[in-house]
Amino acid sequence: MPRYLRETAELNLYRNKNTIKILVGLIAILIVVVSVYYNNFIVNILKEREHERVDMFARAIEFMAEQGDNANLTFINEQIVRGNTTIPVILADQSGEPTGAYLNLDIPDNLPEAELLQLLRDEIAQMRTANEPIQVVYRNTANQVEYVEWVFYHNSDLLRQLSYYPFIQLSTILLFGALAYLAFSFSRTAEQNRIWVGLAKETAHQLGTPLSSLMAWLEYLRADERTRQHEALPEMAKDLEKLHMITERFSNIGSVPILEHNSVPEMVQNSVTYLQKRISTKVKITISSVGNDLRAQLNPHLFSWVIENLIKNAVDAMSGIGTIDIRIAPASNNTVHIDITDNGKGISKANIKKVFEPGFTTKKRGWGLGLTLAKRIIEHYHGGRIYVKHSEPSAGTTFRIVLRA
Ligand SMILES: Nc1ncnc2c1ncn2[C@@H]1O[C@H](COP(=O)(O)OP(=O)(O)O)[C@@H](O)[C@H]1O
Ligand SMILES: [Mg+2]
Repeated sequence: MPRYLRETAELNLYRNKNTIKILVGLIAILIVVVSVYYNNFIVNILKEREHERVDMFARAIEFMAEQGDNANLTFINEQIVRGNTTIPVILADQSGEPTGAYLNLDIPDNLPEAELLQLLRDEIAQMRTANEPIQVVYRNTANQVEYVEWVFYHNSDLLRQLSYYPFIQLSTILLFGALAYLAFSFSRTAEQNRIWVGLAKETAHQLGTPLSSLMAWLEYLRADERTRQHEALPEMAKDLEKLHMITERFSNIGSVPILEHNSVPEMVQNSVTYLQKRISTKVKITISSVGNDLRAQLNPHLFSWVIENLIKNAVDAMSGIGTIDIRIAPASNNTVHIDITDNGKGISKANIKKVFEPGFTTKKRGWGLGLTLAKRIIEHYHGGRIYVKHSEPSAGTTFRIVLRA
């Protein structure tokens, strides 16, 4: 079972990131569905009301026709017929041809008759698809049907706006949410960067003082007659050299590192030579390079740190015995590939995605920071890429580094 170190609440949250993402996604979908559904519900109720309103309008016209000229119809005319100031309506005869009467349409007053009728015809065609027209029946005094007319209508602007409303609202929220998320993750990344860099700088700084003091002491011992031959001196010198290298690395990652034009095979060879003395002789490391002058812009201190981390991981993946094969080759787009292949235990499919995450480790004593650091050095400081090119459980793993040549 892979494990994340320092199982604080924070890291637990981090580990459950995917579960949280899925949950947030589901809730978001639920909100969208509910609000669209509810809005639709309201729109349908209002539609029903507008239908009733137009129906009343039609009945009022019938009523006025029936009453003839003798009754006082001002109330009905004012309140019901003219009272409709929101729903666009057009009157049409039996065959659906406009009679010329309409309400609440955006039509200029002094339009020639023919043009007006054509406009109304077009409008009717649209209204027909939106709502069923309502019949107005004219009867004579004997209560026989004389002729019929149709009231075509559109829903009011308000209602039409209301039906788009949830989409406008939801996309505004979505846009805002995306912006907020971006701003948040940007500031979080900036914060993480500050911690990385600050910690590294501080470490280099703190190591610096005792280190230069130790060097002075070493010189003192070398100069003294009684101690200059002591066998411990060369060993101490080596360890000081190593401490110096570590300080150099931390100080480089804590500042903008200087990149130099370096031979990639040479740099790799140096790291391997250094490491070979410190690992089991049963692990064979081979380096092969295609093309003899493969150069890249590199910071030697940081780059050797990466190679070291990858080789150490490869060694850890073996049970004491195995081979590590490093291939350096030019590739398209003016890049250099460095493939580091081991025949260790491999990485499971599920874990391949996670190995670069800070704190991810499968080792009892691991910190899970080696690959995080390697990724940062390659991508952040060198503008390159690093990824698991291939891995098969119990067969081996290949990590690839891509550098700009
Ligand atoms: N060459 C490899 N073969 C198999 N597993 C690997 C290899 N390199 C890395 N891993 C996996 O990735 C994890 C993270 O590596 P790393 O970031 O260096 O942290 P650590 O070495 O402290 O565990 C390791 O614990 C291991 O599971
Ligand atoms: Mg490691």
